[in-house]
Order: sequence, then structure tokens, then C-alpha cells
Amino acid sequence: MRVHLYLFIVMIHFSTGCIVSDVQQTIIITGYTGGSVVLPCSCADPQSTVTTFTWESHRGNQWIQVFQDEKYIGRHELFNEHSPKNLSLLIADLRMNDQGYYKCLTKSNSIITHVHLTVKGCDLVEDGKVFEVTGYSGESVVLPCSCTELLAKPELIQWNYLTEKNYKVIYPNEQTENYKNRVKLLNPNTPGDLSLHISALRTEDRGEYQCLVSSQQAVSFGLTVLQPEEKPHVNTITLTTNQASHQTQDSTVSQLNPNQQHITHIVFIVRMFFSVLLLALLVFILWRCRGK
Ligand SMILES: *[C@@H]1O[C@H](CO)[C@@H](O)[C@H](O)[C@H]1NC(C)=O
Repeated sequence: MRVHLYLFIVMIHFSTGCIVSDVQQTIIITGYTGGSVVLPCSCADPQSTVTTFTWESHRGNQWIQVFQDEKYIGRHELFNEHSPKNLSLLIADLRMNDQGYYKCLTKSNSIITHVHLTVKGCDLVEDGKVFEVTGYSGESVVLPCSCTELLAKPELIQWNYLTEKNYKVIYPNEQTENYKNRVKLLNPNTPGDLSLHISALRTEDRGEYQCLVSSQQAVSFGLTVLQPEEKPHVNTITLTTNQASHQTQDSTVSQLNPNQQHITHIVFIVRMFFSVLLLALLVFILWRCRGK
């Protein structure tokens, strides 16, 4: 039995130069659209010199060579030039259809690793909903829109201004001069935050807007533009959407927190003081009783 096992390992050594581990085991890797992943593959044997190996991806009921697939052109990277034992594959700018099974093979078709790649994309948090937003002439306004996964960058993002007959794209390419240099994403560094910032509001900006992503999901906004004189004289921040009002409330609560903590501390100290006093009194009485 042992001899057999030994022979088996030696055979694998000769045929592949790699120790082929349990082939049945699939490594699960998760990535986000627009991001990148490293699909792991390595030769455990430090003596191994695998010069030819390949990565294959399972698509349409067959295995396709990743290095020859135009789908991956300019999006894949290997590390074996600098570290010969490392046969891992990096896939950048992930797309939904990169999802699936991959395998890393030697020239003799021995599978080194089996990987399942899951790609998480953008689903709009408020898909299909309509929000009413109020802004003031000359000021700026934010139309909030985001993916449930903030790390997922949608394959397409488009902000539209709807007119009576059709729509005009105002982001990423302004089709209309009206919005030139006045629109930008609020948080360009967060891939899944698509919120639009419109500055120097004009009366004619009022109307219907739409945040649209690749999967044909959309969130709509009805924007009202008022004159600054029309601002309510109450001491509150303008609430744009339900979401924003929650945030405002939250921040008010957290602003009160330090004060509340301070009061709790004082109450605690006063309580301690009286407890110690009571204990001292008790000890004193006991001592007097004993004395008698
Ligand atoms: C292979 O190289 C990549 C990129 O440097 C690294 O992320 C990965 O951990 C390496 N894998 C091994 C097994 O060394």
C-alpha cells in the first residue's frame, strides 16, 4: 500500500513537476465587477520547473484556454516570470460573465487546482423607486443612487434627464450643454456609489432624472428647484429623500452622545460616593455594637 502510494507520488512528480493535490477540491473565489481577483495555483515542490502550464475556463459546456481567449485580452496577468512556482492567474476589470469554473493544468493535463469564481455585480438599492428632491437655485443638490455592493462597479452607469418626448444623457457624457461642468459623481472613489452631484442649480434643472445601470435597473427622481428666499425658516437641514432624513437623524443622535456619556459618568461617581458612605456607616455601627 505504502509502496503504491510512493510510486503514485513519484509518477506525478515525473509527469508534472508539481504535487497535484486533491483534485476534487474546488477553491471558491469571490470578486466584484470592475475589480480584480487572483485565482490561486502553485507547485508545492520547490524543485519543480513547470514551464508550460495553462488556465482553462468552462464556458458553454466546454473548456476554453484563457490565454487564447480574446475575452481576457489585456485583463489577465501571471506571476511565474518572477516567481516560477506561482502559477496564479490575475483577472482584472471583472465582468459578470467571468463567473464560473476555472482550472489550472500542466502540459500533461494534470489538474493542479480547480477554482470557482463568483462575480458580484451592481443591484440598485432603491431599484424602481421614485424620490422627490428639493434644491435651491444657485446651490447644489445630490441625487442619491447606489449598488447594494459598494465594491461592485456597474458595467454601465448613466444619468438621464427626462424630457417630455425623450431623455438626455447628463452623465458620463453630457449630451446637453446645460449641464456642462455642473455634474459629477459625489464619491468617485467608491465604485458602487453612483450618487450625482449637481452644482449651481438653475430653475430649468427641475424635472425628472434617472440613475440607470447595466442590468436595466433604474431609480428616478423628481427635482424641484426653489428660490433661496423660499427656504423654510425652521432651523433644520433640507431633507432630500427618506434615506437622507435618516442620516440626519442619526447624526443628531451621535452629536448628543458625548453629553449623555458625561452625565452618565457623573451619575456613576455620585452613586459610588453614596455607596462607599453607606458601607462606612455600616462598618462604623458594627464596630460600635461589638465594642459594647
Ligand atoms: C502569487 O502571486 C500573487 C501576486 O503577487 C500573490 O497574490 C499570490 O499570493 C501568490 N501566490 C503564491 C502561492 O505565492
